[in-house]
Amino acid sequence: MSEFKKERYWSKYALTYDNYTEYVVGKSLRRSLLKRLSEEHDLGEVIELGCGTGYFTKAIAKNAHHVLATDLSDEMLEAAKVPLEEFQNVTLQKVDCESTSYPSGNFDTVLMANLLHVVEDPLKALTESRRILKDGGLLIVVSYTDYGMNWFEKMQIGIRYLLTFGMPPLWGLRNFSPDELQSLVEGVGFDVEELQLMRGNARAIFLKGKKKVYQEERNRES
Ligand SMILES: C[S@@+](CC[C@H](N)C(=O)[O-])C[C@H]1O[C@@H](n2cnc3c(N)ncnc32)[C@H](O)[C@@H]1O
Repeated sequence: MSEFKKERYWSKYALTYDNYTEYVVGKSLRRSLLKRLSEEHDLGEVIELGCGTGYFTKAIAKNAHHVLATDLSDEMLEAAKVPLEEFQNVTLQKVDCESTSYPSGNFDTVLMANLLHVVEDPLKALTESRRILKDGGLLIVVSYTDYGMNWFEKMQIGIRYLLTFGMPPLWGLRNFSPDELQSLVEGVGFDVEELQLMRGNARAIFLKGKKKVYQEERNRES
């Protein structure tokens, strides 16, 4: 998929994303996630991948030294400017999460909120996240899902999505189960320390993991 097409899918919703998302997954789920994220302290140097309109950036900015809030879409970054202008420790930057140009071991924390289930290649995005994290660095993943909902609820959420965002991207949208997400994250070299399924009109997985350090990586670096 070309960069342009990947970028366009979300760009066209930059001005409506917050309202549409609250209609699809519900305000209360979004607020619960915001609250849960704001309970994370001492986040240090943070990179947020796929920050969108900056809704979750606000929650982490209060507890971080600096947040580099990044997204592939210029329009999303433009929309994030206003809600984030009061935060002196937030910088916005255009970045493709599947291949960034940051040096290895650059950040204390990586946040991916509702990104892994929309990207073409979640494994690539996770591997890149691990590369740019410091040893022992923190990965936080939030992912909306319909896992655990009955067929009627799944149908309702599907209809709400179609009525607002229209057809999903060509490469599809995933509905991870907590176990699937955990094995994906562990498979690229993280220890999962927290995994919960949060409930609202939809569900959301909240996952925290720490970057594992392998002896062969240490040997290569020394
Ligand atoms: C579902 S929205 C989530 C926005 C925000 N994190 C939230 O939870 O409200 C997905 C965001 O990821 C961005 N995105 C999609 N693919 C990306 C990629 N390869 N690299 C960086 N951002 C990407 C989109 O532009 C969009 O802003």
